[in-house]
Amino acid sequence: MSYYITTPIYYVNGEAHIGHAYTTFIADALARYNRLIGNDTFFLTGTDEHGQKIEESAKRNGKSTREFADEISATFKNLWDEFDISYDYFIRTTDANHQQSVQKAFETMYAKGDIYKDFYEGHYCVSCETFFPETQLVDGEFCPDCGRATSIVKEESYFFRLSNYEQRLLEYYEAHDDFILPRSRKNEVVNFVKSGLNDLSVTRTSFTWGVTLPQSLHDDKHVMYVWLDALLNYITALGYGSEHDEKMQRYWPATMHLVGKDILRFHAIFWPAFLMSLELPLPKHIGAHGWWTRDGEKMSKSKGNVVFPKEVAEHYGLENFRYFMLREVPFGQDGDFSQRAFIDRINSDLSNDLGNLLNRIIGMSGKYSDFHIESVHVSTYHAKELQAIDAILETVENHLENIQFHRFLEELWKLFTIGNRAIEEHAPWVKIKEGKTDEALATVALVANILAKASVLLHAVMPKTTATIADALGFEITTQTYERLIKACQLLEPFVIKKVPPLFPRIDEPLMPEAPKAMVEADTKHEEKNNEPETDNLITIDQFFQTSLKVGTVVEAQEVPKSKKLLQLQVDVGESRPRQVIAGIKEFYSAQSLLNTQVCVVANLKPAKLMGMLSEGMLLAAKDNDGLALIRPEKPKAAGTPIG
Ligand code: MSP
Repeated sequence: MSYYITTPIYYVNGEAHIGHAYTTFIADALARYNRLIGNDTFFLTGTDEHGQKIEESAKRNGKSTREFADEISATFKNLWDEFDISYDYFIRTTDANHQQSVQKAFETMYAKGDIYKDFYEGHYCVSCETFFPETQLVDGEFCPDCGRATSIVKEESYFFRLSNYEQRLLEYYEAHDDFILPRSRKNEVVNFVKSGLNDLSVTRTSFTWGVTLPQSLHDDKHVMYVWLDALLNYITALGYGSEHDEKMQRYWPATMHLVGKDILRFHAIFWPAFLMSLELPLPKHIGAHGWWTRDGEKMSKSKGNVVFPKEVAEHYGLENFRYFMLREVPFGQDGDFSQRAFIDRINSDLSNDLGNLLNRIIGMSGKYSDFHIESVHVSTYHAKELQAIDAILETVENHLENIQFHRFLEELWKLFTIGNRAIEEHAPWVKIKEGKTDEALATVALVANILAKASVLLHAVMPKTTATIADALGFEITTQTYERLIKACQLLEPFVIKKVPPLFPRIDEPLMPEAPKAMVEADTKHEEKNNEPETDNLITIDQFFQTSLKVGTVVEAQEVPKSKKLLQLQVDVGESRPRQVIAGIKEFYSAQSLLNTQVCVVANLKPAKLMGMLSEGMLLAAKDNDGLALIRPEKPKAAGTPIG
């Protein structure tokens, strides 16, 4: 059977973070598991390199777009190589063969009448450089992100007839209950489609860093919308549209597209519609995972709390990291990375349960049988345990079909409980003294078999550690041993156990600095930049005093509904009535905390409307990588006191 699994292709505008590592670890584990059970497996990952945002990131970094994309793409590939990620192909959307295949797909959809040329007219926020559908606007006019007024902009565009596929998509979801995993996410997709699909603008004329249109269209003003280009990677990687499309025959349709919940709609709506248009079968599953936070907080560059996978692996070990991520969070739910939780998992699951069990049988077999272990008497003394083990092994793999690694691992760990209990109940050290050698050695062999079987199944999650355990137990993890030990419920052949150093040393204290290194570097850079004396754009004192700055007291404060960023403040600046100031500081200050505190206000700014509300001033604030701080008088001053 063929098994084709993909990760999203990652944008090349920054270094890989824990979210990217999470998807990649799950995909790697599923790919390894499928290879182990004998499936013809293909695992795809790569980088998504086109679009305006990347063009801008390159500019900010003083590099050509191509140079910038090459560099960041290489950091992803190198990281996955360092992490021994078993991908079969790493695709880049700037690859020539990908671009040719994308053009081919565009041509096919165009020829079919599914792509047509028209004008795109919509509500555009100049500041965010984004079009927003009317339904998302606040009060029918304002940008849902920054609160500024949007304007109607009209530009030429090619459109994909998404609206034509509404019915077929709904029928497909209905008929394939496991298309979207976890199943609990299906409704949000269905409801979105039911609310009506507009045709999708699939080209842009405002930038050039994208796949150009097929030559046959003779239209070089447009480049393709980055999501059309990106989604097609899942088939271009198999050679779609080229002479060498054997892999299309062999692996398409994909078994599993793994994605984060934020990009589920693109994969569950646009992508199937594109495939229907191309008359290709649809992928079997789209698996959408949740988001990771750090110590309960959303990660962001500006907060400096991004978890970088390389740093975690360096401090705690790559395979411990993989285990933690897959065990900690039910697939589909959000997860939290904290060093405490991480350390507890390693100490309890890996060190206490798995590691100790291995140490115990190395110790006991060394004492009682010169490290020789034979399974011959296991069924005589441990029939009950064998039955319980077989029952777990019969069902545990089902959890992998739904990507429920946490359940899979939880169940697998029950094997260790059986092993530990057998040791306590049968107390081999007593049996040896009583001369019941067969029974004592049967218990040791039972535990060796438990460790062997668990290692085979755990191989997908911790490939190197389990290979070491298997080696200690005298076998190799292969499809054949999977067949023998798991499927056929057989026991190990006689072997001589090898001593291994403790695999999971206990950890007492957090090993990673709390402030990620990368941010410290960024901070230093920031300071260096500011150390340069300003010589450009100097102003005279008169020019400075054209700005009226005043001390103000916040007398009322509340959140602006539906806005992520804005607070609505009434600020007393010594006038007959307080001024209303709409300030973009909600992410950093609660309304409550501002009440009766003092601020510095730019008092002669032209009033502006934000989210339909008049703002009659601006607060002075300083923002760096640690966040934003309001500038306030050092001692209380009467409201309205001029600053200067
Ligand atoms: N390039 C698109 C995907 C195109 S696929 C045809 C993209 N790239 S991304 O680099 O921004 O995001 C890649 C993945 O990282 C997404 O699945 C996203 O959900 C995931 N994550 C980004 N931040 C995350 C967390 N904090 N936690 C978990 N995953 C997160 O989107």
